[in-house]
Amino acid sequence: MIIFKTVQSIGKVLSKLILENKKIGFVPTMGALHNGHLSLIEQSKKQADITVCSIFVNPTQFNDQTDFQKYPVTIEHDILLLEEAGCDVLFLPSVHEMYPQGTALKQPYDLGFLETLLEGKYRPGHFQGVCQVVHRLLSIVKPQVLFLGQKDYQQCMVISKMIELEALPVELILGPTHRENSGLAMSSRNMRLSDEGKQKAVAIFNSMQYIKEHITQEDVEALQKKSIDQLLKAGFDSVDYIAICNAHTLAPIHTYQPGKKLVVLVAAFIEGVRLIDNLMIN
Ligand code: PAF
Repeated sequence: MIIFKTVQSIGKVLSKLILENKKIGFVPTMGALHNGHLSLIEQSKKQADITVCSIFVNPTQFNDQTDFQKYPVTIEHDILLLEEAGCDVLFLPSVHEMYPQGTALKQPYDLGFLETLLEGKYRPGHFQGVCQVVHRLLSIVKPQVLFLGQKDYQQCMVISKMIELEALPVELILGPTHRENSGLAMSSRNMRLSDEGKQKAVAIFNSMQYIKEHITQEDVEALQKKSIDQLLKAGFDSVDYIAICNAHTLAPIHTYQPGKKLVVLVAAFIEGVRLIDNLMIN
């Protein structure tokens, strides 16, 4: 695996490969890699000639500075995992390399409704920062295919919208959420949890499963309320939301609509760590 730290050095090598008609697959990450990331690398290796991964903890997408400062950084281990997974190129830029003119966003992305609810509501500015960094990374790596994990369901929708708004020539492919045997979704933030915290955090998966099993029989609002109570009883400090939404538009539903594809999305705090997860429920 070749590691590049500058835009110029990676650009030189990748533009040569593009001229040779090589298909570039790209997996952007913030590091602290787990099997979810590695499965995206695997997917890219199957579908592209060259797989590029980036590790960059993007300051502009953190609305909470403590969250930014505490974000796990495990670069040495990440490099070993990527080598083992057969990743071809790792891009490891500094903040200055990514934002040579400063981090201020020149023109906000018109994300519309998608930015007004769930993560958009609870993390103001977060999706603007995500679009800013992914847009910049795409302009540097110029991949034909971009791989993202479905665990960040709303993020996938937002990035898809940004690609459409900017008319970027890239195909977006989503990879499934990877879970521990317990059901806990793999996440870099899990590293900040104690063993006990990880056990308790399984309540998110259980509550989503409960909703999936009862959605046809119970009132939607009552189900959401019951699930919030379940999380608090299981040891969560607070719950930002448990929402049942149309899987295509993300519009929250208030009554069950048979035949419509639905997704349940959760964000909650445990041991001071904010976890998010989602599950398709029909
Ligand atoms: O999902 C993430 O790890 C980040 O939001 C991303 C897409 C790498 C942008 O910083």
